[in-house]
Amino acid sequence: MIVIFSGAGLSAESGIPTYRDTGGVWEKYNMEEVATPLAWMQNRKLVLDFHAEDFEYMQKCQPNAAHLAIAELANHVDVVCITQNIDTLLEKAGVKDIWHIHGRIDYQKCEWHFDIPPMYSDWQCDYKSLINEPVKLGDLCPKCGKHLRPDVVWFGEAVDMHVDDLYRIQNQVDVFIVVGTSAQVYPAANLLKFFQNVPRKYFIDPDPNTELLDGFTLLKGKATKYLPALVESLKEELA
Ligand code: APR
Repeated sequence: MIVIFSGAGLSAESGIPTYRDTGGVWEKYNMEEVATPLAWMQNRKLVLDFHAEDFEYMQKCQPNAAHLAIAELANHVDVVCITQNIDTLLEKAGVKDIWHIHGRIDYQKCEWHFDIPPMYSDWQCDYKSLINEPVKLGDLCPKCGKHLRPDVVWFGEAVDMHVDDLYRIQNQVDVFIVVGTSAQVYPAANLLKFFQNVPRKYFIDPDPNTELLDGFTLLKGKATKYLPALVESLKEELA
C-alpha cells in the first residue's frame, strides 16, 4: 500500500496558491480574520467572502500532471491519499480513496454551535451537503435553522484524522510519499511521525523544511516533475 500525504504544493501548478510561500494566501489575508471560529462569530461576511473566492477558482481549476499520476498509480496498487487540500482536484483526476482532513470547499455544513461547551458536541447539528455555489450570508440550515458555513476546518477546530483507519493501515504501508506541504499545521503534520517507520519514504517539494526530512528520499522540485517520474518507477517495480 502507498500513502500519499499532500498539501497545497500539489495543487500549486493547477493555479491554486499555497498558503505560506511568497505570494501565498496568508500574505494576502490575515488567517485570524477569515479562518477561525472567532472570525466567524465576529464577521461572517468576511469569512464567507474569503471562502467564496476559494470556491469560485477551485471549481474552475483542473488537475495537473501530479494529480493524474496519483490516479494512474491507484490503477496498479492500493493508494490512500491523505490531503490537507480543500480543493477536489484529486477527485477530478479520478482518485477514489481520499481523506480530506481539512474538509472540502464544495460542501457546506451547519455552523458550529458556539453556545455549548465541547463536551456537548453531540448536540451539534449534523447537516452537510454538496454545493454548486458558495455559502452566502443568510443561508440557513434546513434541518435546524442555524447558519450554514463551508465544510472546511478552521484554525482551532478539531481535525478528523481518521485515527481508526490510520491504525488499521499503519503496518501495511510500503511507501509513504509527502508532497507539497510545509508540515507546519498540526495535527496533520503528526503523520510524518506516525509513518516514520515505513520502509520507503519520499518527500517532494521545491523548498522543503529540512528539519522534516529524516529518513526521506528528497525529490527537491515541483510535484508535476517528480510525481509522474516516481509513479513510473513504482509501476515498473510492481509490474
Ligand atoms: N510542487 C510541490 N510543492 C510545492 C510546489 C509545487 N509546485 N509549490 C510549492 N510547494 C511547496 C512549498 O515549498 C511548501 O513547502 O508546498 C508547500 C506549501 O506549504 P503551505 O503553503 O504551508 O501549505 P500546506 O502545508 O498545505 O498548509 C497546511 O495550512 O493554512 C492551512 O488549512 C491550510 O491545509 C492548509 C494547512
